[in-house]
Amino acid sequence: MKKAVLITGASSGIGAASALEFSKNGYFVYLMGRSRERLENVALKCSHGASLLACDLTKAAEVDKRILEMTSVKIHRVEALVNCAGIFERHNTVSGSDDLWQRHFEVNLLGPVRITRGLFPYFEQQGGGSIVNVSSTVGLRPQGPTSAYAAIKAAMINWTSSLALEGGPLKIRANSICPGIVDTPIHNFNSLSGAQKNEALEKMKDLQPLGRIGTPEDIAKAIYFLGSDLSCWTTGAVLAVDGGINL
Ligand SMILES: NC(=O)c1ccc[n+]([C@@H]2O[C@H](COP(=O)([O-])OP(=O)(O)OC[C@H]3O[C@@H](n4cnc5c(N)ncnc54)[C@H](OP(=O)(O)O)[C@@H]3O)[C@@H](O)[C@H]2O)c1
Repeated sequence: MKKAVLITGASSGIGAASALEFSKNGYFVYLMGRSRERLENVALKCSHGASLLACDLTKAAEVDKRILEMTSVKIHRVEALVNCAGIFERHNTVSGSDDLWQRHFEVNLLGPVRITRGLFPYFEQQGGGSIVNVSSTVGLRPQGPTSAYAAIKAAMINWTSSLALEGGPLKIRANSICPGIVDTPIHNFNSLSGAQKNEALEKMKDLQPLGRIGTPEDIAKAIYFLGSDLSCWTTGAVLAVDGGINL
């Protein structure tokens, strides 16, 4: 059976780049996100096949339906799950409303929990699987106005450790990846162009000892490492891919 991966947040940024990385390595890719149009654009570039699972992670019934759709197709062996979907809204503790906290919690933590809960019994039945949770360097060390986002990304890292403990005896691995600043639509500067964008990038470059912010492809390679058998004896790890920003 052909090996496959489920990637959430696959319609954009790091998730889209990860889809292409797994595809390049022969995987069939299940692409999850809300925008069917953007998922279709990514699917067109996946040379080993792709299927769209359009849904909103905040809607439990939709998520369950999509997982069932995917696991009932017996022509692929889903070996990896990449929980990549996420939102980020600038705020601090005083400006962050209950609604903002709730949104971050629903998309950045409860959504990944829902997907994982749906797929875990499938992994157990097939004798293993690999879960990659996309957290953030601010989940390790908060910076700037990111209070709810940072707290919830920290919770994701801790939850991943629980998953690694629960999954170990079942050969289900779980690892966290912590990207630094990556040039994707989650940041306002991503939509700037020309001189304005160059100026923004120039201002940020010295934050990283490696002298630049990241690309989605930088993170996708590390996600592929953790999702595939390349990391077969790695579980419960927290891998920062951040140009050294937290130093
Ligand atoms: N870029 C960075 O600097 C950075 C740094 C550290 C961590 N991260 C993390 O990396 C992950 C990917 O972010 P990115 O930078 O690639 O941002 P992005 O380009 O904005 O992608 C975010 C993805 O999440 C999906 N998404 C958002 N809300 C959703 C919902 N309710 N239901 C289903 N899907 C939803 C979006 O798809 P639709 O809009 O189609 O639903 C999109 O595919 C996030 O978890 C983010 O926190 C990013």
